[in-house]
Amino acid sequence: MSVTTTVLVLPCPLQGHVNPMMILSQRLVEKGCNIIFVNTEFIHNKVLSPMGNQEAGVTGGSSIKLVSIPDGLGPDADRNNLGELFGSMLNNMPAMLEKLIEYLRLKGGVTVSCIVADFVMAWALEIANKIGIKGVLFNPASTAMLALQCSIPKLIDDGIIDTHGLPITQKRFQLSPTIPPMNTELIWWANISDSITQKKIFKVIVHCMQTLELTEWWLCNSTPEIEPGASSFIPKLLPIGPLLRDVAEEKSLGQFWEEDHSCISWLDQQPHGSVIYVAFGSITLFDEKQFKELALGLDLTNRPFLWVVRKDSDSSNNVSLPSEFRGNRGNIIGWAPQEKVLSHPAIACFISHCGWNSTIEGLSNGVPFLCWPYFADQFFNRTYICDELKVGLGFDSDENGLISREEIKVKVEKLLGDENIRLMAHEVKKKLRKEIDDGGRSSENINKFIKWLKE
Ligand code: UDX
Repeated sequence: MSVTTTVLVLPCPLQGHVNPMMILSQRLVEKGCNIIFVNTEFIHNKVLSPMGNQEAGVTGGSSIKLVSIPDGLGPDADRNNLGELFGSMLNNMPAMLEKLIEYLRLKGGVTVSCIVADFVMAWALEIANKIGIKGVLFNPASTAMLALQCSIPKLIDDGIIDTHGLPITQKRFQLSPTIPPMNTELIWWANISDSITQKKIFKVIVHCMQTLELTEWWLCNSTPEIEPGASSFIPKLLPIGPLLRDVAEEKSLGQFWEEDHSCISWLDQQPHGSVIYVAFGSITLFDEKQFKELALGLDLTNRPFLWVVRKDSDSSNNVSLPSEFRGNRGNIIGWAPQEKVLSHPAIACFISHCGWNSTIEGLSNGVPFLCWPYFADQFFNRTYICDELKVGLGFDSDENGLISREEIKVKVEKLLGDENIRLMAHEVKKKLRKEIDDGGRSSENINKFIKWLKE
């Protein structure tokens, strides 16, 4: 490949979207592409700060250049309001993206030959089409969720959802005979409790789904090994998962928070298979009561635990530990080098919100799950982990809607005593690793993609 092949990568401004697209970018750089990684200005600043404000990563002769464009919202806008954010990006970013590509060409002498757009940013495929360059979709969530999105017109025709995407009645339905049945409760966009946000997000999804017709290349961070039915449901799909970081890397590019690496030496001191890893991704918020039950539940397990409690700059995540909390067997940190943690031999299980990246990372390291979904696709991911792959258990809420400290203790004991789950988790890990080994399906799919980029 000529070193001048330049790919513009455009993630949605969320950690669970930036991470897999950064890993994909690193794979492309290893094969000689240059990457222009475009974040929104807000996220660009977050990503630069843990990197000591260094704007690029270089591998061999190729590089990842981090650049930004505004998301169209004012400086004090609430970017946790995803309906506002997605709507603003759709209305404001296409013109700015086009200008950026033009600017790069005129001022930087850089010709972008392809845009890889996150599903939420699929409007960028219209720009690629307009200016006559290649366009590619990247789906950061499960293939089953993409299959669900592809089925929106049929779900409306069949009377399962209305034109705002909301279930008409509580119902079980099946997208195809090979995809596990779903319940209307698992439709991810309908899980968003604020109805205005829900409607806005659904509108963006519908727009993006229509745009996908502009490309033949639909990349996803999954594999038919774990999602056979959903993968065969989507003819254009090119599975390239699991996208995993190189754990030997000193620092991970693209993190919104500074990783606390001291937890690795702490893990080194714990017995093999002893530590409960507890992390809920980048968006989950706890209320005070539930946070308290979690803290006291971890105490009750009487096992070592590594718990990620984010400190968000906007103080939306302001919860404090209860006074009775002992925590003497635990280690609480602000942000973990998660893949390094999950691959550490001291880890026994993962209490997770089941974001798709956490799911893929846990599965790829053979770690059994205790599932605690928070919103959107995470409820579906839980059923996948527990009922299809059989590598985890879910928590049940009590009559007050809380997951109690006793429930946490009971489920930890049950999971760690279940030999079948441990063996299944190991099997799934082996299958996933084979996909990304040389000659494996995902690895060959990336080669196929690069060949097409070169043409
Ligand atoms: C969001 C959605 O919630 C998720 O359901 C969707 O599938 C993708 O986008 P998020 O909630 O942040 O993402 O969860 P997840 O998909 O698990 O992504 C979190 C990422 O942050 C993972 O790559 C994980 O490795 C990383 N992480 C998390 C850390 O590096 N350190 C941590 O301490 C916690």
